[in-house]
Amino acid sequence: MAKVVVFDHPLIKHKLTFIRDKNTGSKEFRELVTEVSLLMGYEVTRDFPLEEIEIETPLTKMKSQVISGKKVGIIPILRAGLGMVDGMLKLIPTAKVGHVGLYRDPETLKPVEYYCKLPQDIEERDLIVLDPMLATGGSAVAAINFLKQRGAKSIRLVCLIAAPEGVKAVEDAHPDVDIYVASLDERLNEHAYIVPGLGDAGDRLFGTK
Ligand code: PRP
Ligand code: URA
Repeated sequence: MAKVVVFDHPLIKHKLTFIRDKNTGSKEFRELVTEVSLLMGYEVTRDFPLEEIEIETPLTKMKSQVISGKKVGIIPILRAGLGMVDGMLKLIPTAKVGHVGLYRDPETLKPVEYYCKLPQDIEERDLIVLDPMLATGGSAVAAINFLKQRGAKSIRLVCLIAAPEGVKAVEDAHPDVDIYVASLDERLNEHAYIVPGLGDAGDRLFGTK
């Protein structure tokens, strides 16, 4: 079974408070989501392997460590996942970015795919799937299905807020996928929104409604 990491860093908790607050406008919301994504990326990449190279400081030659030939793919689930891309790219600027477009049908609550454009070599890459919200888990499970159908072998999922139902759905469908969440909230409401949550992540990021 893969791991579920729930962050307890004070900076993440602090920023998440203002992300949740309904009085936070889109500009600040976007900035905070970028900042939290960057902070989460620090932990998400913790197990990246290192190798030694030789360099010269102004004083002497030395062997020093660099990340070992990692090929990373960052995969935002459209739309709201876009809000997490910049933070992750700040940490891993050479990553390729693939997009999976899904929306949750408001009637059936089932994910519908409308776009998919991925790096060609996704089977060789460590993929970091981004979506602020893991509610029923339908979107994340479907996105990971698409990625696996197209050859992906190494996938981790990074979300700001998850409901227990969503975590369980991903664990059941994809037991090989590590899940990183900034907060594990209480429950889903009758419209499958996360409570207490932050509302509609896409609308708050992009100022739509
Ligand atoms: C939201 C969110 C997730 C999905 C989570 O997207 O960004 O993708 O819902 O719900 P689930 O776990 O029950 O599938 P939405 O469908 O609202 O689309 P958007 O990102 O375009 O706003
Ligand atoms: N999608 C959102 O944007 N928010 C939720 O709480 C659930 C799904």
